[in-house]
Amino acid sequence: MPLNRIGWEEFRRLDAKAKAAYFAEDGRLFHVLLAQQFDRARLEDLGALATRIRFIAKSDEGRRFLKGLLDARRAMLYFTQPSTRTFLSFCAACQILGLTIGEVRDPATSSEYKGESPEDSVRTFSSYFDLIVMRSQIAGLAERMAWVLSNAGRPIPLINAGSGRDQHPTQALLDVYTLQRSFENLGGIDGKCIVFVGDLLRGRTVRSLAVLLTNYGGLRLRFVAPEPLQISPDVCETLASRGVAFETGGDMESAIRDADAIYMTRIQDEWDAREGDSARIDISRYCLEHRHLQMIKPTAVIMHPLPRRKEIAVEIDGDPRAVYWRQMRNGMWIRAALIAAIFGRDGDIRGYDG
Ligand code: CP
Repeated sequence: MPLNRIGWEEFRRLDAKAKAAYFAEDGRLFHVLLAQQFDRARLEDLGALATRIRFIAKSDEGRRFLKGLLDARRAMLYFTQPSTRTFLSFCAACQILGLTIGEVRDPATSSEYKGESPEDSVRTFSSYFDLIVMRSQIAGLAERMAWVLSNAGRPIPLINAGSGRDQHPTQALLDVYTLQRSFENLGGIDGKCIVFVGDLLRGRTVRSLAVLLTNYGGLRLRFVAPEPLQISPDVCETLASRGVAFETGGDMESAIRDADAIYMTRIQDEWDAREGDSARIDISRYCLEHRHLQMIKPTAVIMHPLPRRKEIAVEIDGDPRAVYWRQMRNGMWIRAALIAAIFGRDGDIRGYDG
């Protein structure tokens, strides 16, 4: 159902699942804003599409085919909060599919500096571009901007590339894709034990991933964090309402022994109420060191959305269970799959037989 069928105030008050009904058009993805809009079938489809793109991109002919799919389209990357891999992987994904890219990375260089509102900014972008990918430090702003676009003269899709502390749905997609690939020969994601470690309160990647994991059966999730940074009650409520087994607290060293996937996160001190608040929290027991490698399963995977600080020792990088660099590259493929699906070119990719 298009987002122009509902007023902003009415839409704003809906819960995430009800909002998600407004992000598709003619059964196809349009806006990508919340993890709640993805069901299991969509996750499996996107993963298979990403793998297909990866395979096709191995040959010159395949790369030319992919580059011709969306070469008449333009994407605006509107990132007013710092980013390295999300920004660059969206750039690379657009380039794989032939889209031309424009960017605003600092509102001080755009007319927002002169007082233009974000609403007017995205309407302006929609005059020149066919897709907006947006990162902002304001929770919910991507939803508001998508509503504005759908109600403007030239509705175009918007992808949320990280909004405040609430959602980072495309990071969660690449995380699920990494889990799909890691457990391909181990029975899939169902039934696995996934341990989250670190700043779970303010990590939007963990929030979005926890929602996506409710699409799988028999999971056991464990959230290990310093007490002030423990996962928030609303995520626990979502998990409980979907019948996902989870526990909070406990000791990292005992939790990782049983884990099929260990998802490390950094302390997100950019959200501190007062500078230095996080520095007072002892995180030494929430850091993965080389000695921990002998405690974890031979088939376990170690993940991290990155960037990292000290929570994963660099010496771990060479261990075959450390998949965070592969996880990051998966972001490029899954984002290419997402953009192809939004513009309805997924069928061409599946049908390519070169
Ligand atoms: N994982 C992630 O969102 O990284 P960036 O902040 O570098 O984009």
